[in-house]
Amino acid sequence: MRTIEVRSGPLEELDVDVVAVPVPPQPTDLLRRLDTWTGEAISRCREQGVLRGKDSESLFFPCASGRPHVLLLGADAPLDSSPDSVRSVAGRAVRFCRDQRLGSLALALEHAADPRTVQAAAEGLVLGDFAYLALKRGEEVRSTLLPSRAMIWSPDLVSGAEEWASLGWRVAEAQNVARSLVARPGNVLTPAGLADEALDLADRGCRVDVWDVERLRDKGFGALLAVAKGSHEAPRFIIVEHRGRGGAPVVLVGKGITFDSGGISLKPAKGMEEMKHDMAGAAAVLGTMRALSEIGAPQRVVGLIPTAENLPSGRALKPGDVVRGVSGRSIEVVNTDAEGRLILSDALAFGARMEPVALVDIATLTGGCVVALGRQAAGLLSNDELLAGALIEAGTRTGERAWRLPLWPEYRKQLDSDIADIKNSGGREASPITAAKFLEEFVDDVPWAHLDIAGTAWAEDVTGWQPKGATGFGVRLLVEWVRGLG
Ligand code: BES
Ligand code: MN
Ligand code: ZN
Repeated sequence: MRTIEVRSGPLEELDVDVVAVPVPPQPTDLLRRLDTWTGEAISRCREQGVLRGKDSESLFFPCASGRPHVLLLGADAPLDSSPDSVRSVAGRAVRFCRDQRLGSLALALEHAADPRTVQAAAEGLVLGDFAYLALKRGEEVRSTLLPSRAMIWSPDLVSGAEEWASLGWRVAEAQNVARSLVARPGNVLTPAGLADEALDLADRGCRVDVWDVERLRDKGFGALLAVAKGSHEAPRFIIVEHRGRGGAPVVLVGKGITFDSGGISLKPAKGMEEMKHDMAGAAAVLGTMRALSEIGAPQRVVGLIPTAENLPSGRALKPGDVVRGVSGRSIEVVNTDAEGRLILSDALAFGARMEPVALVDIATLTGGCVVALGRQAAGLLSNDELLAGALIEAGTRTGERAWRLPLWPEYRKQLDSDIADIKNSGGREASPITAAKFLEEFVDDVPWAHLDIAGTAWAEDVTGWQPKGATGFGVRLLVEWVRGLG
């Protein structure tokens, strides 16, 4: 899709294959109008109790040639008040068109007087169009060509609706880029490959710098190098800067483990293939940088990505090893599977020195976070009330929710080491919290927040605009938060 058009005017005259209409529990004027169009099919359905306004419902009415077909999509909530429902209905409409190979689509909304409705509709149309098919025979075409046109129609459009549709479109495109990175297998997306993807942003007005092993040694990135040692794939440190109007930067840090086997503390075989998505934090940061530069955000933002592969070998980091990174602190590695916090510690220590207005990291950090919050929210841990509050609000507004967990000092003793300044694992108890306690050690007094997206980076089932697999979680949340910084 190249753009999302916005239209009002006679619905009957739209030159599209399909008009998709949400059906909330209460009948609307729009549905009454469509009833005539569909030969009273809608009211007959209602009479028979078929179309009651439920999220699971969808009904397709083929119409005579010259007129668009009508797709009715049940919606649990009244759409006016819920951008999440609009995004979801829009996504379902697009996925229907893809499956049925219908080339163009209009989403008809009774009301679109709220800019967030328009933005969410555009997001849903773009997000619903995502599929990672690059490795499937003969499927490449479907991922890009259908539907070729998508538009939002409403008799009640906010002024400047095009701008909001364009914002939603850009943010969602960036989220799709993040999803496609997350979906790539470990052999397809290596640390060097991730760096190449970041270099793409150089053509879009960002400054991109990629550090290789030699530079990392120079700069004392001992923790990142230690994690990477077991693999033949060399690590990288990626710096992406969107200059904006300058000044003190916002710094975003994303965990970029392109495959996490656990290292010598090897993970069980079952489900290990999912650990190709252990770079979802990095993908969210790259997606966010892309969106911010596309929309020309005024804020100066720097994205930092430590990236490596975590494998066991004769050269690998071992349990009991003590390493030292950018911060100069000694770290006892009691578990090589707690590798994310190691690579993040170097990036955070580096980022804290840039005197940022805020430092936010995003990472698929702990299995414990999946246990605690499931797939409905990211874990949020922060040393700063204002920052935590702003992120939670941005999460609520974008439907990428974050739920705060405490960072009480008492948790720190789980990380006490007998021979070093700190150890890298506090065991199973409260693992999302002790992981964040570890990170906190490396940020000095900078306002910092950590988003644990272990549960939200990957979807187990299809819902709304989300197919099974990579979600691109974090892009909408971070873009919204940065935009709100003023
Ligand atoms: N990448 C994993 C965390 C993870 C687990 C993400 C499941 C998504 C789904 C991380 O590197 C890890 O292995 N964490 C360990 C830490 C433990 C060894 C202290 C964990 O959470 O089990
Ligand atoms: Mn791990
Ligand atoms: Zn990991």
